[in-house]
Amino acid sequence: MDNLAGVDIGASGIKIVRLKKSGSSYVLKEIGYYKFGEVALDNIPLQKEALHKLITANKMRFKDAATQISTAALCMRHIYLPEMPKKDLKEAVKWELKKQVAFPPEEMICDFSITDTVKKGDVKEFSIMAFAVSRKEVDGLLDIFAASGVNVVSIDVLPMAMLRAFDANYSWEDGVNYAMIDIGALKTVISIFKDRKLKFAREIQLGGNDLTMAIVNGLSKSPNGYNGGYYGNAEAEKIKHGMTASDDNRAREFIVTAIDSLVLQIHRSFDYYQAQFRETPVSKVILCGGTAGLKDIEEFFTENLGVPCFRDDPFKNIAKDKKTFKIERDALPLFTTAVGLSLWQK
Ligand SMILES: Nc1ncnc2c1ncn2[C@@H]1O[C@H](COP(=O)(O)OP(=O)(O)OP(=O)(O)O)[C@@H](O)[C@H]1O
Ligand SMILES: [Mg+2]
Repeated sequence: MDNLAGVDIGASGIKIVRLKKSGSSYVLKEIGYYKFGEVALDNIPLQKEALHKLITANKMRFKDAATQISTAALCMRHIYLPEMPKKDLKEAVKWELKKQVAFPPEEMICDFSITDTVKKGDVKEFSIMAFAVSRKEVDGLLDIFAASGVNVVSIDVLPMAMLRAFDANYSWEDGVNYAMIDIGALKTVISIFKDRKLKFAREIQLGGNDLTMAIVNGLSKSPNGYNGGYYGNAEAEKIKHGMTASDDNRAREFIVTAIDSLVLQIHRSFDYYQAQFRETPVSKVILCGGTAGLKDIEEFFTENLGVPCFRDDPFKNIAKDKKTFKIERDALPLFTTAVGLSLWQK
């Protein structure tokens, strides 16, 4: 594991974390962040160049990488199948997913996680979270790493990386539902965990860049919009003030409107989860991804979701040399996925 880094290639940047195991805990050995400066979703040449620059500029020494597939083309489904041997289950999941993917089914690569065993009448059924992607996407991802001489040992999906990041830093109570919400640049992923297992995951096509666009549109229409109508200015405004209620935060009302619709969709997902699986409510939410750094987001989410919400510190239980690794509080949740990926084990 010491030679392995978690590499999270998102739409807005690349985050790398390498940990070293020390007894039963971990020490942070390497960390890196590269911001693309433009949206680079599915832009392989740009991602390839960025990864290479990040590794060489920081003289990073890892040889193996655990990464995640983050593409608009990832198909994420919840399905039920009758209880059967593992080997047959794989085929059955494949069969179910092939009916649902938007690309040629013969190009499909899939994986799944059993979330529960439920009784329907006299039959026992597996409740399953299944994921599928096309081979072309996987090849593109491998190509990015090959250009830097890095060996990819694992390609995961975001909810599984989030589960490991959660497990490393928070304690579990039996039967309690926890949610982790990754608010990235283009999208938000909700994962619900119980008893150390992924129970449910959903992706919402709304992220931090939509907040910035809401400020751009809002300020360009407002009489006091100064030059906030430009993306870069609006982004700076968002990062400086976030959701803090103050007289000089002219962006707040536009952020609130945009984030309200995100909160509404999260509410719907929680309601669906509770109703569909006859579950108890989610009792704690951890916010991660770059947008979790938004000032006062914890208060806003707690109030509007009606559940205690906390910004993640993915290094909470990870020892680090404070002199070498200076990470601002607001920037901590950027690294949650990379931490989760770096905890991958065979
Ligand atoms: N301190 C901050 N306050 C508010 N927003 C922030 C802050 N820092 C970063 N962001 C926003 O977070 C987003 C980037 O987050 P992140 O790196 O998690 O996204 P990503 O992984 O690249 O994207 P995706 O997960 O959608 O592929 C951008 O929209 C950026 O504006
Ligand atoms: Mg991301």
